[in-house]
Amino acid sequence: MRMVDIIIDKRNGKELSKQEIDFFIEGYTKGTIPDYQASALLMAIYFNGMTQKETAWLTQAMVDSGEQIDLSAISGHKVDKHSTGGVGDKITFITGPLVASVGVPVAKMSGRGLGHTGGTIDKLDSIQGFNSSLTKNVFTDNVNKFKLAVAGQTGNLAPADKKLYALRDVTGTIDSIPLIAGSIMSKKLASGADSIVLDVKTGSGAFMKTIEKSEALARSMVDIGNALGRQTIAVISDMNQPLGYEIGNANEIKEAIAVLNGKHIPDLRRLALELAAHMTVLAEVYPTYENAYLELEKNLDNGKAFHAFRTFVEAQGGNTDRIDDVTQLPSAPHHIEVKAEETGYVSDVDAELIGVAAMYLGAGRATKEDEISHGVGITLQKKYGDKVDRGDVVAILHSNTDKATDSLEKVKAAYRYSTSKPDKRAFIHKVMK
Ligand code: URA
Repeated sequence: MRMVDIIIDKRNGKELSKQEIDFFIEGYTKGTIPDYQASALLMAIYFNGMTQKETAWLTQAMVDSGEQIDLSAISGHKVDKHSTGGVGDKITFITGPLVASVGVPVAKMSGRGLGHTGGTIDKLDSIQGFNSSLTKNVFTDNVNKFKLAVAGQTGNLAPADKKLYALRDVTGTIDSIPLIAGSIMSKKLASGADSIVLDVKTGSGAFMKTIEKSEALARSMVDIGNALGRQTIAVISDMNQPLGYEIGNANEIKEAIAVLNGKHIPDLRRLALELAAHMTVLAEVYPTYENAYLELEKNLDNGKAFHAFRTFVEAQGGNTDRIDDVTQLPSAPHHIEVKAEETGYVSDVDAELIGVAAMYLGAGRATKEDEISHGVGITLQKKYGDKVDRGDVVAILHSNTDKATDSLEKVKAAYRYSTSKPDKRAFIHKVMK
């Protein structure tokens, strides 16, 4: 088999065979296929796409390129949840304990990573003493005993994806549905869960800015998961404005705890329940989505979901005083008010700009070497559709400096106003199976 023939076939719009895709992924991972040939194939895929069969073969080949996590020592049906990423997304800290509170094991591998705020592990690091460096045995034991554990990603999951993602980044081939779907799903499948619930974000703060593209990505990922033997469901949810009111690391933990204690923060509670309901139906704890939703709501209101979170934090060495009294979590020394510049209604809180403002404050990393500041962040006081008078506080920046001019400008730009009340927007757009 010759790589040049594979490139020519794809350039001419032909469907590649499983053998050809395996040849490419194996050769590229080992280094026997050079970057220039891989780049040419990626560009041909970018223009000509991939059939669903090709996409599933590509994903399987990327899974097979590295280690696969074996969760068989954990009893029960393991369901994983994955979000395509957004601003203020603290859903894992609500959905994880909520699902655990009804006995479904959640074995979560997470990263630190780059972004507007830190990743799941960075946020948990806001809790003094929390340890995410668990050995495989402790991780397994904790999930078996407490139904929830979160560990930092170790091991060499889908190395082919890592190499290809870096190449896509510099060859203008990131924005291809089969390549994105294969990339995300290869890492999820290598993580070993039996079923997967995907939260595919759509809107200004999401990777996919339009409903059409989000749906296409969700369709492709669901088909890959199902074709490769893991039941997969995708929920398409809005990311035009941040989720909830808090953005930052400690900030987001605080807000998640409030929801776990029964506080009705509408979008957060809704999405956490939506995802948890699908997860528990896949795990066959409840017969229907409606039934699951109603039962899970009770555990947000009766303290069981918070108890599951507290137990998990304690089991991983976290100081539970800090979550019983969230004023003990890290905070920033300066609080800078952002005021409405017009009277009317909030017609936009641009999630992307708010995310960038949070990163400028130090909540996220621009490069791998950057340090996260756990106490900084942004509290939104007003969201889409809220009425405001000129001069009302719409957001508060929690900052390590008393000026934070760059962040302030970004948050001001994120808020837009209209004279009439904007139409209600859908929050959950679609569920795809
Ligand atoms: N996230 C991924 O992991 N891969 C992509 O291709 C895009 C987003």
